[in-house]
Amino acid sequence: MKIEEKVSKRRTFAIISHPDAGKTTITEQLLLFGGAIHKAGTVKAKKTGSFAKSDWMEIEKQRGISVTSSVMQFDYDGKRVNILDTPGHEDFSEDTYRTLMAVDAAVMVVDTAKGIEAQTKKLFKVVKQRGIPIFTFMNKLDRDGREPLDLLSELEEVLGIQSYPMNWPIGMGKGLEGIYDVYHKRVELFRPEKYDGKRFIPLEDRSISESHSLYENGVYTQAQEDIELLTTAGNEFNEERIRSGDLTPVFFGSALTNFGVQTFLETFLQFAPEPHAVKTENGGKVSPYESDFSGFVFKIQANMNPQHRDRIAFVRISSGMFEQGMEVKLQRTGKKLKLSNVTQFMADARENVETAVAGDIIGLYDTGNYQIGDTITAGKLSIKYEKLPQFTPELFMKVTAKNVMKQKSFYKGIQQLVQEGAIQLYQTYQTSDYVIGAVGQLQFEVFQYRMLNEYNAEVVMTSMGSKIARWVDSKDLDEKMSSSRNILAKDRFGNPMFLFENKFACEWFQNKYPDVGLKSLL
Ligand code: G4P
Repeated sequence: MKIEEKVSKRRTFAIISHPDAGKTTITEQLLLFGGAIHKAGTVKAKKTGSFAKSDWMEIEKQRGISVTSSVMQFDYDGKRVNILDTPGHEDFSEDTYRTLMAVDAAVMVVDTAKGIEAQTKKLFKVVKQRGIPIFTFMNKLDRDGREPLDLLSELEEVLGIQSYPMNWPIGMGKGLEGIYDVYHKRVELFRPEKYDGKRFIPLEDRSISESHSLYENGVYTQAQEDIELLTTAGNEFNEERIRSGDLTPVFFGSALTNFGVQTFLETFLQFAPEPHAVKTENGGKVSPYESDFSGFVFKIQANMNPQHRDRIAFVRISSGMFEQGMEVKLQRTGKKLKLSNVTQFMADARENVETAVAGDIIGLYDTGNYQIGDTITAGKLSIKYEKLPQFTPELFMKVTAKNVMKQKSFYKGIQQLVQEGAIQLYQTYQTSDYVIGAVGQLQFEVFQYRMLNEYNAEVVMTSMGSKIARWVDSKDLDEKMSSSRNILAKDRFGNPMFLFENKFACEWFQNKYPDVGLKSLL
């Protein structure tokens, strides 16, 4: 197969949800369909610990949340599918955002009983900013949940995205009979054994009107009425608007009982886009069909396997083809690197990869060469991809090593975790104290846990509470501008910034120094 053909078959997407909506369960079903795993429970078991290959999964186990994002690949229906998992918790939304930079579409899993929760709202804001197609899976239909029409209006009101139901529930919870598949013009039955084992019945089939259980409880009539209402008053199906992320196709189902998941996967693959052209630093774009290889690092994770103490840089290939052993140029430093220890991620294993093309994600064994946002290229291509955005941290802690004898591990740990993007690091001008900044509280807990478990460095953290971080241009800076209402610090690149006590302190500063521009991150 030619490279172009391979690229056009890639479908790379991220799966997002708030914790417990069923992201792990649905991922597992998708992997089962793709033959990437052979028995249910593999991914799940990993999450709950019995498969946990790294002790750093411990923290997930304890808290029941997913803090790591991993990559999984399988083939389905002639397509090569790459799923990128994202941390469900809003405290790790920066990590989610970076992952979203590496995909071409997002799938949002919603619990029908809970609807759109506050955390989904924050995560969604992040997805919307990225401007990619969003597909919604309304999960847990086998349980009594909210009215489907309410769920759709909540999507529109709370998240500000219009929706188009591809299918509609026929009953719910104990009364679930199936889904009315608007798109495929058929009914998909929840309990085919009640209908001679048939799973799908075309809408025009007479057996529907003769079916007792569909009509007995009024669920089918209700579904028909809802659909009619949506046909007249709802949004129209529009592929263009799906592609721009303005309209989300909505699917109903139940991941746990494997109902509606395959229909979702097949329809999703029909509409999910091929690899996109990636923007460069100077406003250009590189086509995925460009013949020279290039890619960017969107995630670094140390100590995925504590036995090996390794560090993996995750690269989204944005053009051309990767071949084992090829030489690339790291654009930030100009250094030439040979890519010889490269992995691909399967559900329950990492495998060496020989070749991969635009749209794929590969893991580079890293001895400290890479940083988040780095571009690597081969051949004549000489570009740098657009910087990966950083969020403005809102919470800050002063941090020191508990044991002065352990300073070396302390610095190593901090450096590595900062390069991974797990936390942001600053140093105060006056006292040279280390200050770490985070978007959410849990980042601190993960930091503390990992410092101890991976670097054997016990840290003491003193909360500074929430602050407003604003950067200033070094040429505008006068150290006397620092007052009791702010702390002057520098980020890890040496750029000066103020940590203001609150918004009044920030406004007061602006009034006093109107010529000094204050900048925030994303
Ligand atoms: P997450 O990755 O989004 O955090 O969610 P996960 O898949 O772990 O699912 C959270 C809980 O919801 C799990 O139950 C899971 O079995 C359940 N679940 C997922 N999909 C469905 C569904 O379609 N219907 C129903 N009824 N439940 C569903 P748990 O009790 O927390 O975990 P476990 O005891 O199954 O391990």
